[in-house]
Amino acid sequence: MPLVSNDAIDVQYENYHLYPTEGLLNDPNGLVYFKGKYHVFVQWNPKACNHTYKEWGHFISEDLKTWERLDSALKPSMYEDQSGIYSGGGYVKDDKLYVFYTGNRRDDKGASVASTQMWAVSEDGIHFEKLGVLFPHPEGFTKDVRDPMVWQGKNGHYYLVLGAQTQDKVGDILVYESVDFETWTLRGSLIENELNDVRGYMLECPSVIEVDGRHVLMFSPQGLEPDYENHRYQNVHNTGYVLGVFDEETARFKPETPFIEMDKGFEFYAPQALQMDDGRTIVWGWAGMMTPEQERSVPTIESAGWVHVLTVPRELYVIDDVLVQEPIPEIMALQEIDIFDETLPVGQYHVANTENWQLKFGTTLTLTKSGNRLTMLRDGADDIRVVEGDVDVLDIIVDVDIVEVFTDNHTQTMTARYFK
Ligand code: FRU
Repeated sequence: MPLVSNDAIDVQYENYHLYPTEGLLNDPNGLVYFKGKYHVFVQWNPKACNHTYKEWGHFISEDLKTWERLDSALKPSMYEDQSGIYSGGGYVKDDKLYVFYTGNRRDDKGASVASTQMWAVSEDGIHFEKLGVLFPHPEGFTKDVRDPMVWQGKNGHYYLVLGAQTQDKVGDILVYESVDFETWTLRGSLIENELNDVRGYMLECPSVIEVDGRHVLMFSPQGLEPDYENHRYQNVHNTGYVLGVFDEETARFKPETPFIEMDKGFEFYAPQALQMDDGRTIVWGWAGMMTPEQERSVPTIESAGWVHVLTVPRELYVIDDVLVQEPIPEIMALQEIDIFDETLPVGQYHVANTENWQLKFGTTLTLTKSGNRLTMLRDGADDIRVVEGDVDVLDIIVDVDIVEVFTDNHTQTMTARYFK
């Protein structure tokens, strides 16, 4: 499979963010380090700037800084995945890269009618052989079951989690277990009676990762009521995490903290983590969860025929029961600033300033610091996001049409697309 010719990446539209050359990009998938290369697969519709069809787009890097785009790693080719290769994870075993994904099937009117959990294997990380269906669709759940993520427990067994919707239209997380990596047994709901208030009507992209010796459950529920008073859950759909313990015997996750929103800005969604052998955990999110109307009006659709970006890679730590997120050192080139102009050009900034200030990005986004409060205001007075805490010190990554803010000792982040 030849490398896709890649003018756009040389032109560098975005400076720090992965984006497609054409079509629509969404979730990061299958993040692994394999045979000397980092792999970031992405949900990708190369045919149109909409969600009607998906392949696994593919970026590789040797240093997490310079990325190369390859041709799609997985495309629809089987009955079960004929309408789309949906999200999932990667796992390296016996010198081979295995990827787990959801096959999507639509009817002739374009409605999704079935999801099937599937897998594929690669010797070189580029060419994949499909291995087919993993296990039958679980009973008691709608067709909305997807996004398999696999890891190995301390007991040597493999675990796989899936986002799911019960027949009663409640979000759930299913957990499967395998001893031999081939035969999977459904163990039930990972969260049983826990986290009932943050399941929504559907729950996407769950994953259990280990950060600083703690288990972290990340997931993206759909349908949470906005909580304006506490500045939570204000996006179209939201993403959060819970620290706790995954018990391998019972295959249950016991939360030890509340559900905490992972990013307090506008578009962050469906994050996935790369767990490195040296113990680092690096997460990418999709900066693209917006209303269909907002999505259709993103200017790069007109100007360049593509839409959406991933966030910058963020290294995760746990401090005092919360996640700390820092842009990875590989991409960091922070410039110290303390005096503000009206705006900040593309660049990376470190700010330590007890004064109040205000910045504008394009014509649509205003970032205001006032005391211990950081406010993002976009497109008009009622679209506001707020972070409260120690906001005197911030890292701000400004790209062509996206800003990512890290503050409150890196325990709170705000992502926002902005347009001219
Ligand atoms: C999350 C998601 C996943 C699904 C994929 C389809 O953004 O809806 O649940 O697998 O996108 O592109």
